[in-house]
Amino acid sequence: ERGGYKHFMLKEIHEQPGACAQTLQVLVGERGFDLTPWGLPPELLRSLSSVHLVACGTSWHAALVGKFYLETLAGVPCRVDYASEFRYREPLVPPSSLVVGITQSGETADTLAAMRLAKDKQALVGSICNVRGAMAERLSEVKLPTSAGPEIGVASTKAFTSQLVALLVLALAWRRARGEADEALERRLFHLPYDLQQALHTDSSVEGVAGELQHARNALYLGRGVLYPIALEGALKLKEISYVHAEGYPAGEMKHGPIALLDEDFPVIGLCPAFELTEKTLSNLEEVRARKAPVYVVGDGEHPRLREIAQRLVPLPRLPWPLLPIVAVVPLQLLAYRVAVLRGCDVDQPRNLAKSVTVE
Ligand code: F6R
Repeated sequence: ERGGYKHFMLKEIHEQPGACAQTLQVLVGERGFDLTPWGLPPELLRSLSSVHLVACGTSWHAALVGKFYLETLAGVPCRVDYASEFRYREPLVPPSSLVVGITQSGETADTLAAMRLAKDKQALVGSICNVRGAMAERLSEVKLPTSAGPEIGVASTKAFTSQLVALLVLALAWRRARGEADEALERRLFHLPYDLQQALHTDSSVEGVAGELQHARNALYLGRGVLYPIALEGALKLKEISYVHAEGYPAGEMKHGPIALLDEDFPVIGLCPAFELTEKTLSNLEEVRARKAPVYVVGDGEHPRLREIAQRLVPLPRLPWPLLPIVAVVPLQLLAYRVAVLRGCDVDQPRNLAKSVTVE
């Protein structure tokens, strides 16, 4: 049942090209970027004033990336909340808002409660969900399916990248509804499964990093912009399956506190692909290096200064920025997996965690 893989997590990491292809196929197929079948015809999209994304854990990280997609590509204001925070305050939900619960299982108690609250506040309620007929879908008027297939490993991997695909499709469809379709990006998205296939080939260089990280007690993940949520996700993966304390931080915030922690025993993983913020991120990594902390980079393999400061570099291809988070998370999933295996952890059943959190 694990298809020759040692763990479900590794199998599911490798299923990502297919999971994202299938998600894209089901959501848009040959029809183009028109979400009418899912309850979001172009005239409805045009009438909406804002989006609010609510989720927990890894799905919340997807929401943080989704905010970049929706605001930058579709020009629609987007707010993101932890479902468990949204439900216990008095959130302002402006008229004509779309509130979307992002949830792999569709059964997370806090996410469902946040969606019910949004409904009480007269919002249009939607879901991005991986399980057909789950409660999140039943609560929704707008149902955007991810089609990652069953996810068994407790650590979410292929459901996450599929959520990112669904959010990008939503942003592109919204943009199209406003009469500003980005046809180049729409076409490029169909190539993503090949990019993910390439990203899986980083496993051999990731193994080298894992070997050096396995005895670490702490790790800091740094990223900027659309890669900051991926830093959070990399840190969460490492925490939950290998029990190494890790934090994700926006690289520019490091000097406002966490830099005080750094020394030769505090490895830093920097996300620094070729994008708008390469040089900004690089200068933060140089500050890390100056504190003698080991620097590992997932990023632009053709950047000479980056190669110089990185103790090891896991190369990422050059991609349009919206695809970077989807591809860059793959080596971080592999890294958490490799470290957990080296430390003898139970990868598919980490202690204290359940696959579906149906209690509050
Ligand atoms: C982490 C993980 C959790 C879930 C969270 C939400 O790897 O899997 O953080 O993302 O419990 O679950 P869903 O998406 O089912 O609502």
